[in-house]
Amino acid sequence: MLGHDRIDAETYHRDIVPGLLIGAPGRRAEAGLTGLDPLGLRIGEGAWTYRAHRDRLRIEEGIAADAGCVVRLSPDAWTDLVTLLRTAAALAIAGDVHTEHGSVADLFRWEPVLRALYQGIEIYLPHGPQVYDRHGELVDPAAELTLDHPDGELADRFEATGVMRVRGVFTAAEIAALEAEVDRLAAAARPDDDRSWWAENEAGEQVLCRLVYASEHSAPIAALAHDPRLVRLAGLLHDDLAASTDRMEGISVLLKPPGRLKGLANIPWHTDCGLGGHHIMCPSVAIGIQLTGSSAETGYLEAIPGSHGRTCPQPTREDLANVPYVAVPTDPGDVTVHVADVLHASPAPAGVGGRRTMYVTFHPPTLFEQVGPGEAINDLIRSRTAGEVDAGLGR
Ligand SMILES: [Fe+2]
Repeated sequence: MLGHDRIDAETYHRDIVPGLLIGAPGRRAEAGLTGLDPLGLRIGEGAWTYRAHRDRLRIEEGIAADAGCVVRLSPDAWTDLVTLLRTAAALAIAGDVHTEHGSVADLFRWEPVLRALYQGIEIYLPHGPQVYDRHGELVDPAAELTLDHPDGELADRFEATGVMRVRGVFTAAEIAALEAEVDRLAAAARPDDDRSWWAENEAGEQVLCRLVYASEHSAPIAALAHDPRLVRLAGLLHDDLAASTDRMEGISVLLKPPGRLKGLANIPWHTDCGLGGHHIMCPSVAIGIQLTGSSAETGYLEAIPGSHGRTCPQPTREDLANVPYVAVPTDPGDVTVHVADVLHASPAPAGVGGRRTMYVTFHPPTLFEQVGPGEAINDLIRSRTAGEVDAGLGR
C-alpha cells in the first residue's frame, strides 16, 4: 500500500496550520469543540497544545499544564493521521499512540476536529431525526424500495441517506445456491487459513464469523462482481466504481453465529474507513446480499442516514432519538446498500442470532491504484486477537 512522504510537524504547524485555522477547515473544526479538554500532541521533537478558546480552535506550541490528554506520536504515525492513511483507532491498535496523560479515548474525541482541520472534512451535526434530499423533500430511510424504482429516484434517496434497502433483488433459488456455496466454504475454513475471521463463544471455542475472499473458490460468488443488478445499484451516484474480488477482502460473508460471542462478530458504530484510507476508498459502496434475512433477534444493520461524507461522532443510545437512526430488517433476497463512510453498526443479536450476509463492495479507481492485490486496510485488525484490539482501543 502506498504511504505518504513524511510531513514535518514543525513546518506544518508553523506554515500551514495558521492558514487552515482562519479558513474553512478551521471553521469546520470549531463545530466539534464542545466539551473537549486541551489536547497535548508530542510529535518527534516538537509539541503542541490544541484547545477550544472562545469557541475557536487555538493551537499553541508546547504542552500546556492544563492539557487533559497528552499523547506522543512518531512523525510517521502523525503523518498517517494528517493524511487519513490511518485513523487514531488504527494507530492505537498498532501500539503507535503513547499516552502520557489521559487516555486514548480523549484522542478519539478530538479526532473529528483534527480531521476537519487537517483535511477539511465536515463534522456531522444532525438537526433532528429527519433526512431531506437535495430537493428539500423529506426522505424515509426505511422506505420499501425495489429494482422497479427508477434510477433517478433511487439515486436521490441514496445520495441523501447513504444507506438503503432494496427488496427482492435475488430469487429464492439464487439465495439457496449462494447458501450452499457458503456452507461449503464455511466447512473448509480454519482459524489459520488467512481467509476467515473467528470469534470466541461462551465455551471458549473458536466460531467462524466471517469468510473473506469468498470469490476465490466459488464461481457463483465470483460472478456477483459483474451482476447487472448489483452494478446498477453500486453505480447510482458514481459510475466508475468496480467490485473488488482480489483485495480489500474481496467478496466476504458475515456470519452471526448464535449465542454470546467475544471478538469481531459484532461490530459497534463505525465507518468502513474507520481504520484509515478514507481518501482512497470513499465513496465505496457495499452491497449486502441477505442470505438469511436479518432482524433484531438475528442481528441487523443499523445506520445514521445522512452521516456519510462527514465525520460522525459516536452516538450513544440516548442520542439515537435525535438523529436519523435506522435499523434495517431484511428478508432473504433483499440487499442493503451503504456508502463506506455512513456511520453504521452490526450489533449483537437480541435473540438467537444466525444471520448470514454476503458483502460485495464496489470501490473507486483510487482504491485499485493504491491498494494492491491481497491487501486490505482491515489486515491490521484481522492479524490481532480480540484482546489486543480491545487493549489498543483502551477498552
Ligand atoms: Fe461496516
